[in-house]
Amino acid sequence: MTTVLVLNGPNLGRLGSREPDVYGNQDLAALALLLKSEAPIGMEIDVRQTDDEAELMGWLHSAVDTKSPVILNPAAFTHYSYALRDAVALVTKSGGTVIEVHISNPHAREEFRHNSVISGVATGVIAGFGLESYLLALSAVGRRSK
Ligand code: DQA
Repeated sequence: MTTVLVLNGPNLGRLGSREPDVYGNQDLAALALLLKSEAPIGMEIDVRQTDDEAELMGWLHSAVDTKSPVILNPAAFTHYSYALRDAVALVTKSGGTVIEVHISNPHAREEFRHNSVISGVATGVIAGFGLESYLLALSAVGRRSK
């Protein structure tokens, strides 16, 4: 049994009511249901969210030990957290998978969102497909673990 960690950064706990024109109307619980319904047999989905950078890093550290694939929406940390970048590098440089996802397309938004300090150490990046970004990431995780 593989457990895929689906980690979400700050303000994503407000999905559903936060800027619905950008992020849609579905909340994190709906995302969890969607991912669980699409996960292949033998794959467990663990969706988590935190506004706390340290907690997010702790989850990435444990992914190194458990070798769990990670789907990560770093939210605003994407744009400035070198600490999170280093934690992602810990996973990917030890052979693990971290797929960076975004609900919106940050490149089509304000200039400060155009840069990701995470992408350079992530396994890959999927952005701009709404909650489907996570489904595409899940499919990539599945293919990589075949
Ligand atoms: C986001 C994009 C980020 O720029 C923003 O800070 C978020 C969400 C996205 O999923 O589109 O909180 O990561």
